Amino acid sequence: MGLPPPVAGAVRRITVLGTGYLGTVHAAWLAETGFDVLGMDTDPARVDALSRGVLPFYEPGLEPLLRSGLRSGRLSFTTSYAEVAAFGDLHFICVGTPQRAASYRADLSQLHSCLRALGTLLDRPCLVVGKSTVPVGTAEALAERLSVISRRPRLRARMEPGIPAGGARRLRHDAAGPDRRRGDLVAR
Ligand SMILES: NC(=O)c1ccc[n+]([C@@H]2O[C@H](COP(=O)([O-])OP(=O)(O)OC[C@H]3O[C@@H](n4cnc5c(N)ncnc54)[C@H](O)[C@@H]3O)[C@@H](O)[C@H]2O)c1
Repeated sequence: MGLPPPVAGAVRRITVLGTGYLGTVHAAWLAETGFDVLGMDTDPARVDALSRGVLPFYEPGLEPLLRSGLRSGRLSFTTSYAEVAAFGDLHFICVGTPQRAASYRADLSQLHSCLRALGTLLDRPCLVVGKSTVPVGTAEALAERLSVISRRPRLRARMEPGIPAGGARRLRHDAAGPDRRRGDLVAR
């Protein structure tokens, strides 16, 4: 714990939308690395638990990291898209994309609703990066949609198809473990 702050750069304030397993691990490690991080979720009970340092799921090593981030003041949580839009230089979308019932297709409704709510509020230069797993072709379509609804010429939207950061390594149990300190497993 207690890594030095990152080298100075344009990105200081990062948001993570969707604080399930993927989003909470990502948010906690970014805060540990020295960034100011705001996690956002539409589930108020989840946001309340995380804000109190209580994990709503089991992940070895993550709860101390969460509490360290909260104590440092670099990690906080909200249910407000407006706060997210005002806060972030960089937004990571980590909402769920479950398989639809009786189908091989992904249910992208969380992703669409998240992008719609965020996109209409973005009013300053920022970068939006998708970390949710999506079918090939979805990323480009969503990036195009985002640049239209945000009406911001300086907005850069990059929705990654599939898994951009760390591949399967970040998804195993103990994803909150020491390997996570390697920058290339956090974001690239
Ligand atoms: N957990 C894993 O091991 C794993 C493995 C492979 C891929 N993934 C991918 O990572 C992504 C997230 O997975 P997860 O397991 O963290 O999902 P999850 O269901 O645990 O978490 C999703 C979170 O997003 C929140 N959410 C839903 N709609 C929202 C919205 N509009 N705005 C903000 N928050 C919203 C939900 O309340 C929930 O807390 C998915 O695409 C999944 O396929 C996860």
